[in-house]
Amino acid sequence: MSADNITAGAAPLLELRDVHTYYGQIHALKGLNLTVNPGEIVALIGGNGAGKTTTLKTVSGMMKPKQGQVIYQGQNISGIPSHTIMQRSMSHVPEGRRIFPQLTVRENLEVGAFTITNRKLIEQRVQEGFALFPRLKERETQLGGTMSGGEQQMLAIARALMVSPKLLLLDEPSMGLSPLFVEAIFDIVERLNREHGTTILLVEQNANMALAIAQRAYVLQTGEIRLSGNAADIASDESVRKAYLGDE
Ligand SMILES: Nc1ncnc2c1ncn2[C@@H]1O[C@H](COP(=O)(O)OP(=O)(O)O)[C@@H](O)[C@H]1O
Ligand SMILES: [Mg+2]
Repeated sequence: MSADNITAGAAPLLELRDVHTYYGQIHALKGLNLTVNPGEIVALIGGNGAGKTTTLKTVSGMMKPKQGQVIYQGQNISGIPSHTIMQRSMSHVPEGRRIFPQLTVRENLEVGAFTITNRKLIEQRVQEGFALFPRLKERETQLGGTMSGGEQQMLAIARALMVSPKLLLLDEPSMGLSPLFVEAIFDIVERLNREHGTTILLVEQNANMALAIAQRAYVLQTGEIRLSGNAADIASDESVRKAYLGDE
């Protein structure tokens, strides 16, 4: 971990200030305030339709907030197109993975490096991806669409890592995966944070898993933050679990 990551009071890497995002008339985010500090894993949890995906899309520039600011590395990036934001070391692994099914594993990774022109650097990043996910190395020439859901999720993450992001946005990486793959994916997310110092904003419906690896968490419900704090505290609070996390 670099000194930056442990400097108390360091400026946040990402900050949302009173962010409002709409789909037409639908008010999906109603004044979100959220910070992610360098070196953190922050979980954003909440049920279906809470606004988790919309939050990530608003951060990565796929959606423009109608009101409020998205501050990344000290700059207001609201309204800047995603491809420009991606050149600033931010990567978004979308919900449902969205790998290219007709491209091989290697080709999918190379697409992830489209902003990089240096061939040697691209090859180095491909090899780093293979080191992190040996399973992808074994399937280097296989078409993405022929792999299992868990393998496709690994590929989606490896593709996002091709730009060596400072901030990684992960949208429900465990969705639809078997328990073994869920474990494997969360292990990797934790390792990326611990060993590479990657800062992560992790969106999950699987609150238990997310809270287990995050330092802090926000609970989102119908477009509003209901609760935020230390992940362990939220995980151990039964009334919170009942009220917001769908526990019986
Ligand atoms: N493409 C869309 N068009 C209209 N409404 C949408 C669209 N996508 C999401 N919404 C609405 O925005 C709200 C937040 O959705 P979303 O961010 O996808 O939630 P989550 O990811 O937490 O399940 C929901 O009410 C949802 O119905
Ligand atoms: Mg979603």
